[in-house]
Amino acid sequence: MTLEDVDAVHSYQSLPEVAEYQLFEPRSREAVLEKVTGFASALRLESDGDYLQVAVEESGRLIGDVYFAIKSVDNLCGEIGWTFHPDAQGRGFATEAARAMLELGFGLGLHRVVAELDPRNAASVALCLRLGMRHEAHFVEDMMFKGSWADTGVYALLAREWAAR
Ligand SMILES: CC(C)(COP(=O)(O)OP(=O)(O)OC[C@H]1O[C@@H](n2cnc3c(N)ncnc32)[C@H](O)[C@@H]1OP(=O)(O)O)[C@@H](O)C(=O)NCCC(=O)NCCS
Repeated sequence: MTLEDVDAVHSYQSLPEVAEYQLFEPRSREAVLEKVTGFASALRLESDGDYLQVAVEESGRLIGDVYFAIKSVDNLCGEIGWTFHPDAQGRGFATEAARAMLELGFGLGLHRVVAELDPRNAASVALCLRLGMRHEAHFVEDMMFKGSWADTGVYALLAREWAAR
């Protein structure tokens, strides 16, 4: 991402329905500017916590972003996440973008990629399953989320499972 992406990212990260199951509240333009400034300089996947927040374009329009992080170098484990503009949902773009990021992550030699989500987020659960991720865990009320206890779902995919697809 670059600072030129701020308005496009703000157009969806400011929406309550986009933020509903995310750790953030709908973001102001100032908050998006601060985040995108960080995203623009996050360009390495080498150490624990390194991440990429990649803009996804369709016909020249930024329609969403995919997050990919190194969770553990020792365990060759990555983490993936996604956020798309409601206008661009329901057409397979998130699936296509996530597959590209999985290809990148496994291409780097990762052994395992996980996604953690709110199990009420049916679209995100469906995306994990479409990608071939396995439902590995459902933690009950393991986090205080926007003022209430909420569950966490864990989905995962191994390199050999990705290669076999
Ligand atoms: C999670 C999220 C990215 C999923 O987006 P999505 O639009 O459902 O996913 P895709 O872009 O892969 O589209 C899949 C849909 O397109 C359809 N589709 C059409 N062509 C397709 C293709 N070539 N490949 C895959 N799916 C295709 C699928 O059948 C599916 O339709 P359905 O929802 O009616 O079953 C989106 O809901 C979102 O951004 N939510 C808000 C942010 C959020 O909560 N992020 C996750 C935090 S954990």
